Amino acid sequence: MTNLAARRALLDILGTELPIIQAPMAGVQVGALAVAVSECGGLGSLPCAMLTLETMRKELAAIRAGTDKPYNVNFFCHTPPTPNAEREAAWRKLLAPYFREHGIDADAIPAGPGRAPFTPEAADALEEFEPRVVSFHFGLPPPSLVARVKRWGSKVLASATTVAEARWLEANGADAVIAQGAEAGGHRGIFLSDDLSTQLGTFALVPQIVTAVKVPVIAAGGIADADGVAAAMALGAAGVQVGTAYLLCPEATTSAVHRAALQSDAARETALTNLFTGRPARGIVNRLMKELGPISGLAPAFPLAGSAIAALRAKAEAQGKGDFSPLWCGQNVSGCKELPAGELTRELAEGL
Ligand SMILES: Cc1cc2nc3c(=O)[nH]c(=O)nc-3n(C[C@H](O)[C@H](O)[C@H](O)COP(=O)(O)O)c2cc1C
Repeated sequence: MTNLAARRALLDILGTELPIIQAPMAGVQVGALAVAVSECGGLGSLPCAMLTLETMRKELAAIRAGTDKPYNVNFFCHTPPTPNAEREAAWRKLLAPYFREHGIDADAIPAGPGRAPFTPEAADALEEFEPRVVSFHFGLPPPSLVARVKRWGSKVLASATTVAEARWLEANGADAVIAQGAEAGGHRGIFLSDDLSTQLGTFALVPQIVTAVKVPVIAAGGIADADGVAAAMALGAAGVQVGTAYLLCPEATTSAVHRAALQSDAARETALTNLFTGRPARGIVNRLMKELGPISGLAPAFPLAGSAIAALRAKAEAQGKGDFSPLWCGQNVSGCKELPAGELTRELAEGL
């Protein structure tokens, strides 16, 4: 497929004017950001990993009231782990000095903000809205759920972090593949392996996936401005998915400590860490990552690591500190602007 044909094929799938997707970003946005991007011709996204089904329905209703343009609804699709008491105890022991420092009774910590996978119940709620696009992170849900989503007419996108993952997604029903380079902020979509040495940068990953699959390829990771968009398209991408650049937009719900970190020199140093959830994700290096090292073999399986940290996070954020917060952020913050998301999308579109 030529680059132009690939772009047309992607626009047919998305139903948008622009091949620009606002990356779904759980924890820092709800429907307002999606509406702003969809309204100006891109594809806005609602991330659902941290929403209850009730909130998801409310946000979807708000999106539908805010725009009649296509939008994307995004889910994680991990298998929830069986809690392991021994590992949880070892993890809490490692964190004990921090609990003491903050006057937290470790035995009284409630279950933290979990991350739920796509379930039949989520599909029931989603079906009322029949969104144009549904995207998945960490592979795809079981085949019966993929078939259900397709039956009501949604197109399916999913993230690949290697050529093998892209081929797997194409073979298992993805209508387009998001090539997520190692620069990307937030969780790695990695799902066929847990070996981080397999992770490629966007410049290496995109052209290799373009060669390997027939479906359109969307480039993600480190794309921050119109030049980045142009570079991704030159590598054969049919479109782009941009996350970090939208984090300062007024429509995002990015916390005050996160916004401050993004605008500071600290944002130049990011790392992949499993401390906040149990799965590797890229964020700004903060106190916890420095002191424990960004990857710990003691962190409970995804998403269980989050509970113990959430208590510390709440205490520190109340003092204006991001020492224990997941400050998700990609390697390129140069495009982060306090601009309305529609304007930012139009600036990115200049690279098309
Ligand atoms: C704050 C933040 C939260 C994210 N949450 C999600 C999510 O809920 N679902 C998802 O599929 N991807 C998520 N991602 C990853 C994005 O889909 C995308 O791969 C990434 O933002 C692209 O790289 P960039 O941040 O350099 O633009 C998140 C990224 C960030 C920065």
